[in-house]
Amino acid sequence: MYVCNCNGVRMRDMAAAVGSVAQSGAPDVDAVYEACGVTPKCGRCKVDIARMLDDALSTSCAIAAE
Ligand code: FES
Repeated sequence: MYVCNCNGVRMRDMAAAVGSVAQSGAPDVDAVYEACGVTPKCGRCKVDIARMLDDALSTSCAIAAE
């Protein structure tokens, strides 16, 4: 399954990039594109990437709070 059809980025690759960016000092959607080695084109996937990043950040915050 592709998250970003324009760049052919699959869910597993995007999830790995999101996980890496979530642990960085400045996590944002543009950093996820950069981690995947692509640039946004139509931008339709930005909402999905932002949701994945929010989920990763809230998970890491929950772990940190324990
Ligand atoms: S689907 Fe990702 S830039 Fe178009």
